[in-house]
Amino acid sequence: MLKLVNTAVDESRQGEAYSVNAIVFSDNTKRFFIESYGCAMNFSDSEIIASILQGEGYAPTPHEEEADLIFLNTCSIREKAELTVRKRLTEFRKLKRSRPSMLIGILGCMAERLKSKLLEEEKLVDIVVGPDAYRSLPSLITEAESGTKAVNVLLSREETYADISPVRLNSNGISAFVSIMRGCNNMCTFCVVPFTRGRERSRDVSSILSECQALFQQGFKEVTLLGQNVDSYYWVDPTTNHPVDFAMLLERVASIDPLLRVRFSTSHPKDITDKVLYTMNAFDNICKYIHLPLQSGSSRVLQLMNRTYTREWYLAKVKRIKEIMPDCAISADIIAGFCTETDQDHRDTIDVMQRSEYEFSYMFIYSERPGTLAAKRYTDDIPDDVKKKRLAEIVSIQNNLSLESNKKDIGKIVEVIIEGDSKRSNQQWMGRNSQNKVTVFDKVDDENIHIGSYVHVLVKSCTQGTLLGTIVDLPLTKK
Ligand code: SAH
Ligand code: SF4
Ligand code: F3S
Repeated sequence: MLKLVNTAVDESRQGEAYSVNAIVFSDNTKRFFIESYGCAMNFSDSEIIASILQGEGYAPTPHEEEADLIFLNTCSIREKAELTVRKRLTEFRKLKRSRPSMLIGILGCMAERLKSKLLEEEKLVDIVVGPDAYRSLPSLITEAESGTKAVNVLLSREETYADISPVRLNSNGISAFVSIMRGCNNMCTFCVVPFTRGRERSRDVSSILSECQALFQQGFKEVTLLGQNVDSYYWVDPTTNHPVDFAMLLERVASIDPLLRVRFSTSHPKDITDKVLYTMNAFDNICKYIHLPLQSGSSRVLQLMNRTYTREWYLAKVKRIKEIMPDCAISADIIAGFCTETDQDHRDTIDVMQRSEYEFSYMFIYSERPGTLAAKRYTDDIPDDVKKKRLAEIVSIQNNLSLESNKKDIGKIVEVIIEGDSKRSNQQWMGRNSQNKVTVFDKVDDENIHIGSYVHVLVKSCTQGTLLGTIVDLPLTKK
């Protein structure tokens, strides 16, 4: 018997947990429960892990109580993300007492950062596996079953899991993540990712295209191409010797079908090129939305962060995006209270926010991470209350910007793919427009309009986070 359990994913909330939906088998198949924390890349990795485990005969379960294997795919980006995992482990301690045969594994960035130290610190953990070592999971599980603690945290220069077909977890059947590269070669001084994910490497273009094609054939309507720095995607085709850069990859994915929407994340302001912008502009199905992390609006702080651009460079990039695509939405990541940040630096950040008119932002308090260049070189000298005050100000500025941006959409007709019921009411659907804005509208009784349909919505009002409207015409060309 198969049962399908569905829960929603919010791809943007880095450092927070996603639980998993899954097929539940009623026979005595061994079951795994996987909970993912952190960024979309981690979530996407959990789908690769699920595929590896299914290949070994394990079935996913959304119920931790009935799992033989419990995996936490962890994030180290801020201290809070690690604390959440530690807290979760104390909950599993109780479960393990009642089922001693159950194995607990820590996967992902925290596994990589702490390595076997995790086994000393967290006695109930049986398995520790870093992001490049998931192929060794089956042998590590066997090892752990025999009572030995199992660890593999080797980073690789080649691993992209290109040949593994991810098992879609928590999927709405409409949009899917597709990893196009792994690792990061930038050395932003605050960031733990280069240490937990290793060197940057791009995935074989043909495997990306076949994954996207297969998704489209299965009924998916949207793919999000994932990498820490997608603009530095680079792959040399071994048969033709022709290089493929990110703009070319985008063009090839967008050419699969005009009904397949394409998104991508994340762009680094230093690397996004005019060629990428022109490619976005040339294809209706490439969404007009760029996540362009700012981090700070002060050139002095940006230099300390080793972001390799200045505020002027960043603002020129924003201007260029708007010149080529006036309707393109832009969002940012912003860090409040980095080492030595003055009130003036903070005001510079707010100034760039206002000039860039971000549609959204993900905003964080600086959290010193052991082993990073900032931890080695600088003192984390901004008092907590100052950090919090600055963050609150940044959040309030962003709230205003988001509301202003949404107000400008009132009266416009936007194209949306229906993703499911709105959070508030099962009488309403929700979806996102090209600019990634959540749009909510009343359901209509028409057999041609269902989850996965493209619809046109006339925006009638808005909140700071949502456009509210009504469907104005039947989906004409796009069903
Ligand atoms: N590769 C992406 C982002 C990766 S991490 C990029 O280059 O932009 C996501 C976001 O977490 C970062 O953009 C940054 O804003 C935030 N972040 C990273 N390290 C942090 C730290 N030590 N403290 C607070 N926020 C951090
Ligand atoms: Fe971290 Fe910078 Fe790499 Fe992004 S680009 S993952 S912030 S080091
Ligand atoms: Fe976290 Fe690792 Fe992603 S540190 S944000 S899960 S790359």
